[in-house]
Amino acid sequence: DSPPLVVVGSANADIYVEIDRLPKEGETISASNGQTLAGGKGANQAACGGKLSYPTYFVGQVGEDAHGNLIAEALRNGGVRLDHLRNVGDGVPTGHAVVMLQSGGQNSIIIVGGANMSCWPEKLGDQDLEIVKSAGIVLLQREIPDSVNIQVAQAAKDAGVSVILDAGGMDTPIPTELLKSVDIFSPNETELARITGMPTESFEQIEEAVKKCHKMGVKQVLMKLGSKGSALFVEGEKPMKQPIIPAARVLDTTGAGDTFTASFAVALVEGKSKEECLKFAAAAASLCVQVKGAIPSMPDRVSVSNLLRTAQVS
Ligand code: RIB
Repeated sequence: DSPPLVVVGSANADIYVEIDRLPKEGETISASNGQTLAGGKGANQAACGGKLSYPTYFVGQVGEDAHGNLIAEALRNGGVRLDHLRNVGDGVPTGHAVVMLQSGGQNSIIIVGGANMSCWPEKLGDQDLEIVKSAGIVLLQREIPDSVNIQVAQAAKDAGVSVILDAGGMDTPIPTELLKSVDIFSPNETELARITGMPTESFEQIEEAVKKCHKMGVKQVLMKLGSKGSALFVEGEKPMKQPIIPAARVLDTTGAGDTFTASFAVALVEGKSKEECLKFAAAAASLCVQVKGAIPSMPDRVSVSNLLRTAQVS
């Protein structure tokens, strides 16, 4: 049996408002549409693994409310194992996010932590740690307390399990105890600038900032470069660059970064080469931006394979 992908992280109800532009201070504007969809960086990454038909577990927390049910149903339908999804009760709401979706697919997001940020046990239980230790790869992001991420990353490292940390989420400094247990760190340009304190506008600047990450103890940095694609930096080696696979239309970029990181992880745990992993992730992200919503936009394996085939011949 393949060792599972284990995603530990957040689950949010994404409250979408579709607008032409952001409101100015003191201004009220109308949205052309509004709806609530399942999301949250952790749940998105787990849903991506499940939709790609890779055995995937999600370790996370929701509240006892309709949003919690919406997320659990979306994950279950995506084939994700939910044995480690806790309902924290006690009137704590499920995490949520206001997603202001603008024309062209760009978004601005405000998150409310809710159950993602409270009621975690001070020490994770044996059952959660056992699933982490049995993983092929553990995927983390930054929408749950650092103390939980640190416990998970250390348990994984002690068991010889690879850890990928997606830098998306809180903008607080990343604890060094977390970084030193991480095998692959995956930021975008803004997150890289924040953690290194260095400029990241040009590729040369990114290369210099990545060197600082290496000095901080992370040997591999998987850069998400938006419309410029992605690049994998392995310490002491030449960076591997991967352009985007252009999407027929860009409807909503929410969750594209999560799709990229999670599909890279799936390809890696399946034993694909690093170049193949980058291509596979680029194809999955290209499909994700063509559909509205985070979890609803995760592509299945057949769609990714088809896109990779057609992208190769064109
Ligand atoms: O990465 C996208 C996600 O960020 C959204 O689904 C939202 O919930 C926020 O966590």
